[in-house]
Parts: sequence; C-alpha cells; structure tokens
Amino acid sequence: MNAYKIVLFLFLFTVFSIISKAESVLSGGKTTVFQKGPNAFGLPLANITRANRRAHVVGNSFFNKNWVFAPSSTTARDGLGPLYHARSCSGCHVRDGRGAPPQNNKSGVGLLFRLNVPGLPSGDPNLGKQLAINAAPGVEPEGKVHVKYEIIKETFSNGETVSLRKPQYKLVANPVYGEPHPQIMLSPRLAQPLVGLGLLESIDENTILNLADPDDKDKDGISGKVNYVLNEESGKAELGRFGWKANQPSLRLQTAIAFLRDMGITSSIHPKEDFSGKQEKIIKNSQNDEGPDIDDAKLKRVVTYLRTLAPPAQRDTGAETVRKGEELFIKIGCAKCHVQTLMTGSNAAINELKNQTIRPYTDLLLHDMGDALSDGNTKSKVSGSEWRTPPLWGIGLTETVNGNVFFLHDGRARNLQEAIMWHGGEGLFSKEAYSKLSAQERSFVLNFLRSL
Ligand code: HEC
Ligand code: HEC
Repeated sequence: MNAYKIVLFLFLFTVFSIISKAESVLSGGKTTVFQKGPNAFGLPLANITRANRRAHVVGNSFFNKNWVFAPSSTTARDGLGPLYHARSCSGCHVRDGRGAPPQNNKSGVGLLFRLNVPGLPSGDPNLGKQLAINAAPGVEPEGKVHVKYEIIKETFSNGETVSLRKPQYKLVANPVYGEPHPQIMLSPRLAQPLVGLGLLESIDENTILNLADPDDKDKDGISGKVNYVLNEESGKAELGRFGWKANQPSLRLQTAIAFLRDMGITSSIHPKEDFSGKQEKIIKNSQNDEGPDIDDAKLKRVVTYLRTLAPPAQRDTGAETVRKGEELFIKIGCAKCHVQTLMTGSNAAINELKNQTIRPYTDLLLHDMGDALSDGNTKSKVSGSEWRTPPLWGIGLTETVNGNVFFLHDGRARNLQEAIMWHGGEGLFSKEAYSKLSAQERSFVLNFLRSL
C-alpha cells in the first residue's frame, strides 16, 4: 500500500466511524433530544416547528393538569368521572414516563386492571372492561385490587441466584354494582413511557409486516404477529401499534380511549360513558352529564403533544462495556424482537417525523412470552401470554425520570435483569443464553441497556 492509499483508508475509516457513532447516538434521527435529567421524557422533538411547539405546550397542559368534576367554574377541564381511575394523564404516566404498581399495600394509580370474562366481549356484565377505583362524590367506585407477591428463585449457569416477584391479585368488588362474574380474570397493565410515539406511529405498515413471521417460516423460534384491531372511528380493521398488546391503531384512538376509560371523559369518538347496563340505571339518576366532555380541538392538542414527545439520545456509546454489551445483546437474540433500527415513512401526521432513521428497540409485534407472563385470557384473539415488544429507548433513564424502577406489563420486575429473567415462550432461548453468560458479560448487557 502506498502513502496515498493509507491516507485515503484512514480518511474513510474516520468518516465511517463518525457516521456509525452518530447513528448509534441518535435514537430518533433529527428529532432526538440530549437531556439526561428528570425531564428527559417531556421534551418536544428537537426539529419541531414553531406552530407544533405551541400545540405541544397547550397539549401538555391538558395532559398534566388535573381534570375536575362537572359542573365547575374550570369548564376547560371539567367532565371527570363519574367513574374514573386517575384525574390526569400524568397521574399515571409520571413525567411522561411509566407508572408504578401499588407498594406496601398502599393503593396507586399507575397499574390498572382490564376485566376479561371468557366469551363476553364487553367484559364483566356488571363492571365492564376496566376497573374504576375512583368515583365522583355521591357515586360508588367499582372496587379495588389487593396485590401480593410470591418470591421465586432462578439460578444462573454459574450457580448465582436471583429472586423474582410473581404477583397475585385479589379483586374486592364494591357490592353496589352486583357480584363480578365467577370467571372474571384481571389483566394488569402498567402505564407505559410515552417517548417517541409519533415516530412509531409513522413507521410504514409494510415495514412492520416485513418483520412479522406468524408461522415462523424461518424456524428461529420467533413468530412475531400483527394485531389487527378495529378503528372505532373509521370502522375498518387496522394494524395495532399501541398498548401492551398492540391494541390501539393510532395515538388519536389511544388518547380517546384513555380519556374515556381511565378518566371518565367522553369525546366525539366515545360520546357515551363506559357504563355497564346496571351502572347505567344506578349512576344516571345521580349524575347529569350531557354531551362530550372534551371537544375535538383539545383532543387534537393532546394527540399532537404525544406525537411530538422526543426520544432521548443513547448515552455512553463510547464506553467499552456498552459496546460489548450491545454485541452480546445481538448475539443472544434480544435484537430479534427488540429491533434496533427502523425507518419512519414519508407519510406522517407531521413533517418532523418523516423519513427518520430511528433506534426504538421494538418490532411492534406480538410475541408469546410464556405462561409465567400470561394474564390467563386464553379465549381471546390475542392470547394471555402474547405481548407487544416494548420499545427500549429511554429505558436507562427510568429511575432518573420516575424515581423508581418497575418493568414489564405489570411492573413485577424491579430491575433490568429481573425483566430479562421473566422472558419465556419465544423469548426463552434468549433468557437462557443470558443465564449462561459470565457475571461480567451479564453486566455488559445491563450497562448497554442503561445507556439506552
Ligand atoms: C389510570 C392510569 C392511566 C391514565 C390516567 C392514562 N393512562 Fe395512558 N396508559 C395506561 C396504561 C395502563 C397503558 C397501557 C394500556 C394497554 O396496555 O392497553 C397506557 C398506554 C398509553 C399509551 C400507549 C403507549 C404505548 O407505548 O403504546 C398512550 C399514548 C397513552 N397511554 C396516553 C395517555 C393519555 C393521552 C392519557 C390522558 C388522556 C392517558 N394515557 C391516561 C395508563 C394510564
Ligand atoms: C421473543 C421476543 C423477545 C426477545 C427475544 C427478547 N424480548 Fe425483551 N421483551 C419482549 C416482550 C414481548 C416484552 C414485554 C413482556 C411483558 O411485559 O410481559 C419484553 C420486555 C423486555 C424488557 C422490559 C421492558 C419494559 O418496558 O418493561 C426488557 C428490559 C427486555 N425485554 C430486554 C430484553 C433483553 C435484554 C433480551 C435478550 C436477553 C430480550 N429482551 C429478548 C420480547 C422479547
């Protein structure tokens, strides 16, 4: 090699390493933000326009502030209840991050319960599809759930043990609405972190379909499935993206259902309160609650707020332990579901989200994660053990933002390692490969996750 070639080689090598480094840092392409403090999940897209920033700020206030009962003098934010779970979106999505399950027998709002009865699509005949733990004055709440944990032990290949918490739930229903169905099952759901959702909404449907492999044709033990759900506004079946079971197709519908079921706030999409037949009779007498509680303009602002919450940049990418951790993450199969790099499409609700290379660590598909993670609902289209791969961007900032750490759909995992050790079903091979790593290699994987 002559001197000219060596210089050219060095030049190309430097350019390449700058590009590849930049890519691993920018989790949301041009939208990426770089703060690492407690407000790291609450920032607007780095490339946001002035008009969308204004909408973001207005949407933020409807997301953060407590709603009040109607009638009130604060008419901009009234209509809460009469049955509800929390008074504001941020009551559960704390600082745009995740919720916490009840601790030390104190009740908390960050974990809610869907109610399933085999063969009944509208949930429990008396309580409906979701338990409301709070109610307006003069109205009775539906009940509450006691949470207890059984401690179980898992052993790594080198003999080290780790203890895991298996939750047990007991529904204490309020007798005013009648006995719950004898076959009622509780599906616990922790409030999810909300960064980068606009980007996930902007991924082309085909990109997601190309990742799916429902019949496991490539025989790698992983069969990601798409969840087609009814868009309640258009009446059409659409690809589900949001929620722990990919059960909502868009941020608009996710927001409207959150207002209805979590806060008792009706909209043009859901103009009627979510009452069972029996509740209709009992509650209508005491409440005079006419018309949609939130108008379309406000609903739209909240949706824009969600669409413009930016994902935080990956940190410490230069550290050797992080780099080695990423190699192991790929080697032991984590990236087969927690897909590292995706592109958003050229069709997006707002321009800032178009054509971005993003690193969300999800395929947005459903995977069978084994019996230990099942909510027991085996009769529905999406089985109890199927969950959508959660995005991992921002996961290393959980403690900084939320002040506590609870992972998985029900918050049973108290740290990243426990979350990995619960992987079963299609994720079992990956968990086993992790258990066979040396203690040092495991710490690399965890360091890598903390850098996200
Ligand atoms: C009672 C607690 C609670 C309240 C209040 C609440 N949420 Fe949620 N949120 C959740 C839970 C639990 C999930 C997961 C739902 C599921 O799996 O179906 C969720 C999921 C979401 C998602 C999907 C996230 C993802 O990664 O797919 C969005 C978006 C969202 N909520 C927005 C809102 C907005 C906007 C409000 C206020 C109108 C709100 N939420 C109020 C608990 C809450
Ligand atoms: C078969 C697909 C699949 C594979 C392989 C997989 N995961 Fe997951 N992962 C999931 C799903 C689905 C969940 C949600 C399960 C639940 O909440 O019950 C999850 C949850 C997690 C969580 C908790 C996220 C949160 O927001 O609570 C972490 C952390 C995680 N996985 C890391 C890993 C690591 C590290 C590996 C490799 C050792 C791995 N995963 C392999 C599908 C997978």
